[in-house]
Amino acid sequence: MNHLIETNIEDKRVGLRVDLNVPIENGEILNHERLSAALPTILYILKHTKKLCIISHLGRPDEGSFNDSYSLEPIRKWFEKRLNQEIPLIKTFDEVPNSLSIMENIRFFNGEKENALELSKKIAGSFDVYVMDAFATSHRKSASTYGAIVEAQEACAGLLFSKEIKSLEAALNDSKNVLSIVGGSKVSTKLNVIQNLISNSSNILVGGGIANTFLKAAGKNVGLSLVEDEMLDISKDLLRTGKIMLPKNVYVANSTQASLADLVSVDEVDDDKMILDIELNNEISSIVSCDYIIWNGPLGIFEIEQFSNGTQQLINFLENTSSKVIAGGGETIYAISKFSDINKFHYVSTAGGAFLEYLSGHKLPSIEALRLK
Ligand code: 3PG
Repeated sequence: MNHLIETNIEDKRVGLRVDLNVPIENGEILNHERLSAALPTILYILKHTKKLCIISHLGRPDEGSFNDSYSLEPIRKWFEKRLNQEIPLIKTFDEVPNSLSIMENIRFFNGEKENALELSKKIAGSFDVYVMDAFATSHRKSASTYGAIVEAQEACAGLLFSKEIKSLEAALNDSKNVLSIVGGSKVSTKLNVIQNLISNSSNILVGGGIANTFLKAAGKNVGLSLVEDEMLDISKDLLRTGKIMLPKNVYVANSTQASLADLVSVDEVDDDKMILDIELNNEISSIVSCDYIIWNGPLGIFEIEQFSNGTQQLINFLENTSSKVIAGGGETIYAISKFSDINKFHYVSTAGGAFLEYLSGHKLPSIEALRLK
C-alpha cells in the first residue's frame, strides 16, 4: 500500500476522499471531531500543491439529486474559517478548479453507492493522485472509496488512514498481550467481533446487554434482562474458551424508567429485575498489565445517568492505565466525548461501522483497493 508521505504530489492535482459525515442540525455542526481529524492530511497536501479537491459523503441521501439537508455547505464554511481562505463548493467533476475546493456530497452522484465504473473513472480521471483518507467509510465498496482508487493513475492512503491501520494492526497483529472489552446490547451484532478478538486477546471482558446473554449461558438468573436466547449455545461455546470475563456485580432495576438502580451480585438477581449496567471495580482490579486494551461498546445504558456507572468507571480506568488503549465505534466515541476527552486516550478511531468490520477480521474494500496499487 502506498502512503501519502512517500508519494510525490508536488504541484499535482489531488483528489482527497475524507469522511466528513458529522451530525448537523439546522446548519449547525454538532460534533466536528471528524473534521478536525481530516485537517492534518489537508494541511500536508496544501504544503505541496494548491490543486486539492476534498470529497466526502454526508448522511444517506437519495442518489441522483441534490438535497439541501445533506449539502456539505456547513462543512465548507467550517473549513473556510479554519483554513482562512475561500473554498468553493463544486457540483461536478467537469469543473474541478486548480485551487482548493470541496465537492458537493458524493452520495448525490449517480453510481456512487453501487461503485459504478463510469463514476469511478470520472473521479479518478480528474486527478493525478487520489488520496484515500476516509477510514470510517473504508467498509463501503462505493465509487469514491473503491472504484476511484482502482482506476486512479496513482493512489495512496492519507495520513489518518495510515494512522488508523497502523494502530489497529499494532494491537491486533503485533501484540501478544491484549485485553478486549466488548459491550453493546446484542451478542448477535458483535459475534464476529468477539469471535475474531478471542484469538487475538488474552481475555475479553463483556458488558452491556451482551453480558446478560453470557450470564444466562453461565447458568445465572438474569430476571427480566434483555437476553438473546438464540445466542445461548454459541455463548456457551465462547465461555468454554476460558477467555470471557463476566461481571461479578451488576446494577438492576424494575425497568429502564427506574430512578435508582440497586447494586447486586450476579448470583442475586431477582426474577422481577433487569440488569441495566455492570460494576467494574472487581474486574478492573483483576486486569494485569497488558500491552493493549481494545474497547468497543458501552457497558450499560450510559445515556441514562443511573445506568452509566460501568461505562464511566471504564473510561476513568482507561484514561489512567499504562496500557495502550484503542477505542472505536459510534456509541463508544459518543460515550468518551460525553464523559471524557478523546485526547486522553492512546487512540480513538474515527470509525464506527468500519472499526467493527476491521475488528471482525473482515477485509475492508478500500484497504483491498489500496493494496492493488
Ligand atoms: C459512518 O458514520 O460510520 C461512516 O461515515 C459511514 O457512513 P454510512 O454508514 O452511511 O456508510
